[in-house]
Amino acid sequence: MTSNPETSTRDVDAVILVGGRGTRLRPLTVNTPKPMLPTANYPFLQHLLARIKAAGITHVVLGTSYKAEVFEEYFGDGSQMGLEIEYVVETEALGTGGGIRNVYDRLRSETVMVFNGDVLASTDLNAVLDTHYSKQADLTMHLVRVSDPRAYGCVPTDSNGNVTAFLEKTEDPPTDQINAGCYVFRRELIAEIPENRVVSVERETFPSILQSGRKVVGHVDTAYWRDMGRPDDFVHGSADIVRGIADSPLVEGRTGESIVDETAGVAGGVLLLGGTSVGRGVEIGAGSRIDGSVIFDGATIEPGAQIRDSIVAAGARIGANAHISDCVIGEGASVGARCELQGGMRVWPGVSIPDCGVRFSTDA
Ligand code: GDD
Ligand code: MG
Repeated sequence: MTSNPETSTRDVDAVILVGGRGTRLRPLTVNTPKPMLPTANYPFLQHLLARIKAAGITHVVLGTSYKAEVFEEYFGDGSQMGLEIEYVVETEALGTGGGIRNVYDRLRSETVMVFNGDVLASTDLNAVLDTHYSKQADLTMHLVRVSDPRAYGCVPTDSNGNVTAFLEKTEDPPTDQINAGCYVFRRELIAEIPENRVVSVERETFPSILQSGRKVVGHVDTAYWRDMGRPDDFVHGSADIVRGIADSPLVEGRTGESIVDETAGVAGGVLLLGGTSVGRGVEIGAGSRIDGSVIFDGATIEPGAQIRDSIVAAGARIGANAHISDCVIGEGASVGARCELQGGMRVWPGVSIPDCGVRFSTDA
C-alpha cells in the first residue's frame, strides 16, 4: 500500500550533489565538472535530470561548488527541460552532508530525494519513493549489490529491510550491499545536519541518524547501476547509454552501436561500434575504427586510427594509424601518427606526442 498514490507530478524535491572535484577523472575534470562531461553526447547530469523529470519530480536544487557557474550557464532555470532548477553554491566545499544542509532553505516538500550527481542508474525512482511512504521511513536508501563493495558505502540490512549500519569505504565489508547514492529524506532530518561546516553524510550523518533510532530503510533492486567516477566506468557507462543497456529518456528510440552528432564529419569505411559517441564537429578520417569510446566535441581522428574503450576530450587530435586502448586523451592534446597508447594512460591537456612507431604503455 502506498500512502502517496502515484500522480503525474510528485510532491517531492530533488537535490543533486554536484560539488565534487572529480579527481579520479582528471584530466577530464580540470576544466569541466564531472557531471557536465559529455556522456552519449549529453552532459551526464542531463540524463539524470531527464530521469527525475520522467518520474514526475519538477523542482530540482543543485548543490554546487567546484566550477559552480558551468551548471547554470548550461541548464539555466531548467524550463527547457520542463523543470524548475535552483542553484546553491558552496564557496568552500561543505562535503556531501554539508551540501545537503546548505540547500535546506530551498526545500518546499516534506519529502526530499537526494542524488549523488555521478550515478548512472535505471532504477524506478517512484518505486524508491513508494518504499519510503509505505514503510513510513524517516530515511530510505537505494541499495545495490556489487562484486567489490570496498570502494563504496557498505549498508547491511535486517530481514525487514531496515538498515543496521553504514560503513563508508571499509576494507572488510560485511556484505556486498552498498549505498547506491540516492536517498529519500524526511525533510526534518536535513534540518538536524550541522550548518556551515564540512559534514560527510556517509561518515557522520547516516551513523548518527541510525544511532538516534530513526527508521532507516533500504530499497534494494537489481536495475542497471554504475558510479561514473573513474575513467573505465565513465567510458562503459556512456557506451551502455548509447546501446540502451542503461536507460536514458534522452536517447530513447535512438540506441544502437553508436550515436553521432549531425555536425560530425565521418569519412567512408569508418567503423563506429560498441556504444561509441561522437560529439559536435568531430572529424573522423577514412578507415578508422572506434569501439566503445567517447569522442568529445571538436576532436579530430585521422585516417586509419583505432580507438577502443577510451575518452578523447574536446579538440584533441589522434594521428593517422595511431592505436589507443583504455586511455584518456585530454583536451586539445595531440597523439602523433602511428603511436600506440594503452593500459590506462592519461595524456594531459595540450600535450603533444610526436609521430612515432613506438608503443607507450603503463602495463608491466
Ligand atoms: N555539493 C557538494 N559538496 N557535492 C559534493 C561534495 C561537496 O563538498 N563532495 C562530493 N560531492 C558530490 C560529488 O560531486 C558526487 O556527485 C557525489 O557528491 C558523491 O561524491 P563522490 O566523490 O563521487 O563519492 P564516491 O563515489 O566516492 O562515494 C559516494 O557514492 C557511492 C555511490 O556511487 C558515497 O556516497 C558512497 O557511500 C556510495 O556508495
Ligand atoms: Mg562517485
